[in-house]
Amino acid sequence: MLNIALDGPSGSGKSTIAKALSSKLNILYLDTGAMYRACALKAHYLGVDCKNQEEVDKIVDDISVTVQYVDGAQRTFLDGEDVSTKIRENVISLKASAISAHMSIRKKLVELQREIASQTDCVLDGRDIGTNVLPNAKYKFYVTASLEVRTDRRYKELIEKGQTVEYDKLKEEIALRDYNDSHREFAPLKQAEDAIYVDTSNMSIDEVIAKILSYLE
Ligand code: DC
Repeated sequence: MLNIALDGPSGSGKSTIAKALSSKLNILYLDTGAMYRACALKAHYLGVDCKNQEEVDKIVDDISVTVQYVDGAQRTFLDGEDVSTKIRENVISLKASAISAHMSIRKKLVELQREIASQTDCVLDGRDIGTNVLPNAKYKFYVTASLEVRTDRRYKELIEKGQTVEYDKLKEEIALRDYNDSHREFAPLKQAEDAIYVDTSNMSIDEVIAKILSYLE
């Protein structure tokens, strides 16, 4: 199977790149962050504190996360409900980061990600794809950008979706998420030794895609 791993922090441009690659190469795009977001949404519905391991471990077996593809786009389901829009709310971002630190949650989702990747050619984006989910992926990229550029991108995206956000608060949240995701005990965000490093701070999306495609060729 052709598996392309795209890891990096929030707002680095991974998902835009992954979408473009999947349509250019005509392979699936698996957004693994959406799965962690769906788990966080479940905790949110149940009033469970995403930081509390005992509380999270109690609900993990009752969470059903699945993905389906509609016109090539991923739809993410939680307990049978299509939550693709709800999981994008900013309040879910920090909760997803918190819940993703727990081994029980990671074990469940990584299993599902590996199963999908073993059956289909796909590009996966996340934090630990190249280091942990698919250490043998044929291509690995570590995509990043400065905190300022990433905050600008995320701010624009949320405003375009009609969400209310304060720029400075968003910047703090992104920095906190970076810290949490890269300092957790299990499968933290870090560049795989064999991943190609791409800093997208001063690049347009077309330039980034052209660069990545040049490596694939
Ligand atoms: O990519 P995203 O912002 O939608 O991801 C939300 C959170 O999920 C992120 O802060 C950390 C977690 N995550 C993870 O731990 N491992 C992944 N492969 C993908 C996301």
